Amino acid sequence: MKFTTTLIKHSDISEEQLTEICKLKAIRWDYTLDQHKKWMIENIQANDFHILINDGEKPIAYTNLVDITAIINDENVQVRGIGNVCTSETGKGFGNVLMKEVNTVLTQNQWKGILLCKDHLVLYYEKFGWKLIDKHSVQAEKYNEINFMIYDFPQVVVSLTYNDRNF
Ligand SMILES: CC(C)(COP(=O)(O)OP(=O)(O)OC[C@H]1O[C@@H](n2cnc3c(N)ncnc32)[C@H](O)[C@@H]1OP(=O)(O)O)[C@@H](O)C(=O)NCCC(=O)NCCS
Repeated sequence: MKFTTTLIKHSDISEEQLTEICKLKAIRWDYTLDQHKKWMIENIQANDFHILINDGEKPIAYTNLVDITAIINDENVQVRGIGNVCTSETGKGFGNVLMKEVNTVLTQNQWKGILLCKDHLVLYYEKFGWKLIDKHSVQAEKYNEINFMIYDFPQVVVSLTYNDRNF
């Protein structure tokens, strides 16, 4: 298998790439293409990035890296919110390829990463070095039943407050 990774700044994305991404997302989240596109237009901004991975011609994995700010240990920290993590098919190792690429992109750009996930995915992300933040340390009005995980943050996270946009 020959995987190719494309890192696309949202301000540079083509209509064709946007459609490919929405088709991939629609495999995992049951909304129409138009609904996926609408979500993108409403929630993704010019300075955000997309990671799209292809196996040959076929898109197999996707996530976005959204430019947000979290308050960590009482300081504003610019981070990338890793959202809409998805693969076209489970059991083929695409999830491994995706998270390794995500970590590489974060490290190369010296970005810190944050993601939100349900309990059953914590182990998946831990496999790639992401750290679960203790729920008692998190303050985020819009996100009650969800876990916050962080990548490449050197200090112990004593507190994390998140009031920025959806990703
Ligand atoms: C989450 C998701 C991206 C994982 O990708 P995937 O293609 O299913 O993962 P793979 O089949 O390639 O598995 C990769 C590895 O992760 C492990 N893994 C996958 N899901 C896991 C889970 N829930 N818990 C623990 N490990 C998990 C696999 O066992 C495999 O490990 P191995 O290589 O050591 O055998 C994918 O299932 C998906 O798109 N889910 C629907 C959308 C979603 O919920 N996204 C997450 C939003 S936070």
